[in-house]
Amino acid sequence: MSEDVTFRVFRGEPDEDDTPTGEMVDYTVEMDEGMVVLDVIHRIQAEHAPDLSCRWNCKAGKCGSCSAEVNGKPRLMCMTRMEDIMEETPENTPVVVKPMQAFPLTKDLVTDVQWAYDLNKTIPMLDGPEEMDWRFDQKEADRVQEFRACIECMLCVNTCHVMREHQLWDEFAGPRFFVRLANLEMHPMDQDETRLEMIKDDYGLGYCNITRCCTEVCPAGINITDNAIIPLKERLVTEYYDPIAIIAKKLGLR
Ligand code: SF4
Ligand code: SF4
Ligand code: FES
Repeated sequence: MSEDVTFRVFRGEPDEDDTPTGEMVDYTVEMDEGMVVLDVIHRIQAEHAPDLSCRWNCKAGKCGSCSAEVNGKPRLMCMTRMEDIMEETPENTPVVVKPMQAFPLTKDLVTDVQWAYDLNKTIPMLDGPEEMDWRFDQKEADRVQEFRACIECMLCVNTCHVMREHQLWDEFAGPRFFVRLANLEMHPMDQDETRLEMIKDDYGLGYCNITRCCTEVCPAGINITDNAIIPLKERLVTEYYDPIAIIAKKLGLR
């Protein structure tokens, strides 16, 4: 059984000052059973607006391309079922779809995430021992496994108030990269000695006030705050602010 659905979609581009300029446009299309938000966007493209830009690739929640804000919530369009959207949308009200609001607009639903690629290049890579015999406990492997589920959708960064409200792009690495940094720092074979200082000085971990908004929107289910950010904060405290740990280090006891 199919019914009509109206989507109110942002259409626009940045002006010469890079300010997003555009309008919300209503499109009504037929909705079939089992559709996800991305299917409806594709139907709008097919029937009404072939020039509507959106980014997508896998349609399986794996590539992290189709991030957008649906009814004001950051989500993957390909993993958001219309059945759930219709349940939360009041009757006779359109479903509102906007691009991620924290990132610069490219066009319509597409945003520019170049910042993420540039920041990623500054992070010191895993520095393991030369010899090939890398053995460690399964427990140690399990600890970082969760972080490897990140699909780089940037929904967490889009949600974080440090980026969204305060725009601290040059001073704060944001939740996605705290996940990556935790992955490297907690790797049992990593010997890098520079990254922790960078986390404090360059990546601005101190700006995070543990609101947990990033964790709530992560489609990969990564417990960003409790498993990545808080352990990194604990490491910083031990390294730079715990007097007993500092004395022990000076005496060569740790
Ligand atoms: S927990 Fe920290 S990183 Fe996550 S949204 Fe809140 S301030 Fe941002
Ligand atoms: S941590 Fe989660 S929300 Fe953030 S980029 Fe990775 S998958 Fe997306
Ligand atoms: S299209 Fe790949 S995550 Fe949605």
